[in-house]
Amino acid sequence: MSQRVGVIGWPVKHSRSPVIFGHWFDRYGIDARYDLIPVEPETLSEFFATFRAQGLTGCNITVPHKVEAAKCIDVLDPIGQRCGAINTVWIEGEMLHATSSDGLGFLAGLDQGAPTWRGGRRATVIGAGGAAVSVCDALITAGMTVSIVNRSPERAQALADQLGADANGFEALPHLLPATDLLVNTTSLGMQGQPPLTVDLTPLPATAVVTDIVYTPLITDLLAAAQQRGLATVDGLGMLLHQATVGFERWFGIAPEVNSALRDKVLATL
Ligand code: ATR
Repeated sequence: MSQRVGVIGWPVKHSRSPVIFGHWFDRYGIDARYDLIPVEPETLSEFFATFRAQGLTGCNITVPHKVEAAKCIDVLDPIGQRCGAINTVWIEGEMLHATSSDGLGFLAGLDQGAPTWRGGRRATVIGAGGAAVSVCDALITAGMTVSIVNRSPERAQALADQLGADANGFEALPHLLPATDLLVNTTSLGMQGQPPLTVDLTPLPATAVVTDIVYTPLITDLLAAAQQRGLATVDGLGMLLHQATVGFERWFGIAPEVNSALRDKVLATL
């Protein structure tokens, strides 16, 4: 019998996940469909209460539901517990289980794009919103010391306290960059239609890696500036593709490959 999986969000129509999962269904001969499932915030708990009745094997979760959904799940894995947010749900016995795969996806994207990052010790992460939680948690778990830089100091401090990092304003960047091995943008700055993120990268060491989770455009102003300085860069598409592998493996028992054919297919939709 054909299986049903999908992504919930509000709105959800811009998700690239159907392209990613459709590619893997073909590649691995899986009889399943991946639906875009619009779920209004008011009906979120009802969605999870009727999960099995909807014929779902599992689902992904996108904005604005990642935090509220975590409250509807029976068993959160340690990552979901630490982040207080989830994006991947599966069924075990009678229970709904969940994790956030964004951090794992972020690290896998770095491993594929600039494996030298693993030699570094200090990361500077710009932003303290939903995406920053997963990125900071993954970096700290991987053994990095993380400095958070954010416009609003309260949000930076709250995230720093939650995960064990230090909190800074943008004015701290010139002092942080000389000891930064990995610089990450987790804000929406630099995305199409948003203001650019302008950081003077001159103080970064020549061995530093610069990455952006924004993938529209693929080469943000930040990445272009880093490339101009001759630094290694990693674009945001790797994180998008790799985070999807976690759900696919949970639901279908196969760890799917992220290769250039998949990347090109998704690039064509940007
Ligand atoms: P996401 O879930 O995508 O991370 P979010 O939770 O709304 O979205 O977080 C957005 C991040 O981008 C925050 O760190 C935000 O900074 P504040 O906490 O100060 O709001 C940052 N951000 C968005 N627009 C910004 C801007 N114009 N200048 C500086 N930071 C900005």
